[in-house]
Amino acid sequence: MSMFSWCFGKRAFPAGGVDRELSDVENVRTYTYKEMRVATEDFRPENKIGQGGFGSVYKGTLKDGSLVAIKVLSAESSQGLKEFLTEITVISDIQHENLVKLHGYCVEGNSRILVYGYLENGSLDQTLLGSGQCSINFTWEVRKKICIGVTKGLAYLHEEVQPHVIHRDIKASNILLDEHFTPKISDFGLAKLFPSHLTHISTRIAGTQGYLAPEYAMRGQLTRKADIYSFGVLLLEIVSGRPNQNRRLPVEDQYLLERVWQQYREGELESLVDTSMEDVDMDEACLYLKIGLLCAQSLPKSRPSMSNVMKMLNGELELSEKDLADPGLLSELMNYKTVKNNTSGTSSSGSGNHDDSRSYGNTTTSYANMTFTAITER
Ligand SMILES: Nc1ncnc2c1ncn2[C@@H]1O[C@H](COP(=O)(O)OP(=O)(O)O)[C@@H](O)[C@H]1O
Ligand SMILES: [Mg+2]
Repeated sequence: MSMFSWCFGKRAFPAGGVDRELSDVENVRTYTYKEMRVATEDFRPENKIGQGGFGSVYKGTLKDGSLVAIKVLSAESSQGLKEFLTEITVISDIQHENLVKLHGYCVEGNSRILVYGYLENGSLDQTLLGSGQCSINFTWEVRKKICIGVTKGLAYLHEEVQPHVIHRDIKASNILLDEHFTPKISDFGLAKLFPSHLTHISTRIAGTQGYLAPEYAMRGQLTRKADIYSFGVLLLEIVSGRPNQNRRLPVEDQYLLERVWQQYREGELESLVDTSMEDVDMDEACLYLKIGLLCAQSLPKSRPSMSNVMKMLNGELELSEKDLADPGLLSELMNYKTVKNNTSGTSSSGSGNHDDSRSYGNTTTSYANMTFTAITER
């Protein structure tokens, strides 16, 4: 019996499904649990570099000396297995300069572990948006490079990979920087293949408060445009150097998207460009903010595709300001904790009222079993 079927049995997966799925994974290495223990010095707390919705991340050193990020998925979560399988199957085939590379994985007993290349300059939430000291000088040149790289990575997932991949959790902590400040999008744990022949899909909502597109959060409509909304919020964060939500600020200043829209209407967009940049090109920075606003429009069809975002960022395509409308639904969504089951007709064993909202620090990840009908906005 293969290790894999021993670990996960046949109950959760149709006969043959798991083995076939794993034998398709050829671009990644498998590691034993012992190798993972050695690499992390027995999962020493000092080696822990982060905690996300699905488990802990440790910095580790493999036998050959290479540094890796070891993501240990929480064992008690049965959903974790599904995400794990999705993640290895999807990521292992997708490689791009602006996407984090999956080195391998480990499944043994209840453990499910992902091994990624270690990115020494951390994630944008810890550095650019973090409250502590940060040694990186986020100049305008660096920020532009980050915005353009993330755009390329997401455009690749959305428009070049077949079938298209919707990331579903674009946010600052999923943007990692390598030693040259090249941004890499991480975490395809929630991404799903998006076969073009599918007219409906049964899945769960996943995402992070503050980045969730209204139609996805409220109605479960998942399209590439939901990622583009999250990307828009991220773009605002990068240019302003402020997290999308900051409860320590005065009420009118707490929600970045709302604030940017308000300042835009008052002709004061410049006031939101991060003043710590000495080399800033103010026109360009304001253009980036407007592109962020366009991406975060409440109507999905008003949001540009990622390839058009790319063209707008580099000036090939003009942003038409008359198209900029109220991003809408801001405060309500920001305060929104748990997504309620909201189906329209289609029945599915996956639908139900099981809601699960977990908090880590100041972000809340919401999940809900649900069925969506009709994927529009292709
Ligand atoms: N490959 C990596 N290299 C360096 N740091 C990483 C890597 N992957 C994740 N991290 C760090 O670990 C933290 C937790 O990651 P994760 O479990 O994906 O949760 P989340 O993205 O929700 O914060 C991230 O914020 C990031 O700073
Ligand atoms: Mg992450």
